[in-house]
Amino acid sequence: FKVTWDAVAAEKGGYEHFMLKEIHEQPKAVRDTLSGRIAEDGSAVTLGELDLSEEVVRSIDRIHIVACGTSYHAGLVGKVAIETLARIPVDVEIASEYRYRNPIVTDRTLILVISQSGETADTLAALRNAKMAGNRVMAITNVVGSSAAREADHVLVTWAGPEISVASTKAYTTQLIALYLFAAYLGQIKGTIASDERAKLMNAILELPLKIDEVLKTAPAIETIARDFSSWDDAFFLGRGLDFAVALEGALKYKEISYIHAEAYPAGELKHGTLALITEGVPVIALVTQDELYEKTVSNIKEVKARDAHVLALAWVGDEEIEKSVDRVLYVPHTLPFLAPVLLVAPLQLLAYYASIARGNDVDKPRNLAKSVTVE
Ligand code: G6P
Repeated sequence: FKVTWDAVAAEKGGYEHFMLKEIHEQPKAVRDTLSGRIAEDGSAVTLGELDLSEEVVRSIDRIHIVACGTSYHAGLVGKVAIETLARIPVDVEIASEYRYRNPIVTDRTLILVISQSGETADTLAALRNAKMAGNRVMAITNVVGSSAAREADHVLVTWAGPEISVASTKAYTTQLIALYLFAAYLGQIKGTIASDERAKLMNAILELPLKIDEVLKTAPAIETIARDFSSWDDAFFLGRGLDFAVALEGALKYKEISYIHAEAYPAGELKHGTLALITEGVPVIALVTQDELYEKTVSNIKEVKARDAHVLALAWVGDEEIEKSVDRVLYVPHTLPFLAPVLLVAPLQLLAYYASIARGNDVDKPRNLAKSVTVE
């Protein structure tokens, strides 16, 4: 008699890798992170757990978001969310930089650390420095009992569930959700977002899990593209505004598990350097969901096409116009451009996943990298 049951395989729930499982868990992770935080009639965000009084919220005049890796990339989206909805200026900084400089902080500054594990050494050091200086610290974390959760003054938990794969996927998506909710919460208290706008936003957020489900259905098409791209030693990710913020995360995912050199660039900055690297056939992934910047991004796509790059666009479903300018298109269901990052990241995660598979790599445990960097 031979035991064929394998505990690790069982944990993967039928998926070949934890990363693939976690990518597919995103609709549920988002639903769980939203659960109980939006009033039933969709009119307001309720974050009583934050324990942040209205008086304190009104006093905050600057936010420093501090994080590492993928959490830092979530912070870049958070900046746009908070500045748009609450009109509070936000700086986003890499923790290993922030902890060694002398940032200008007053008693009206909120230090917001973002950490999936709540244990990243640099992020914790930044948190502790801020606490020691008597500043107000909030943490967005996925681990309820983590050091960040225990030490911060205010905590907002993401309910992604355990994330095993070194490359972060569902944690990022739920961090985005937490940041949108927090931004709306600040805006609601400060009166910087009209109630009809808020209701529109809440409804759009509540529709995201189903839309992520739809995006995930494009996996077979992404697998084919990834196989083609995986024979190249470079990949370039372009976008403007929020598309650029997600491009950074797409490039990080791609490089960390496929070991292919990947670079994200603000599309408008191409001609200041990266264009020199564009050669015939090289994969360029262009994100085109920020309607106000559409024409600008398309003209940057034309610049790389003129150098014979192979361009894959990620665009809104229905945008047939884009097909004239690129080689291939992956469509995402429509939502507010402001929320696009939540839908754009899944195709980029899958692209990285399948490129890694095509190269025969250990997807869940990329060389030289750790899930949680608890030493400096
Ligand atoms: C490591 C992980 C990344 C993660 C980063 C920050 O580099 O491989 O996936 O984004 O640490 O981790 P944290 O737990 O602080 O979000």
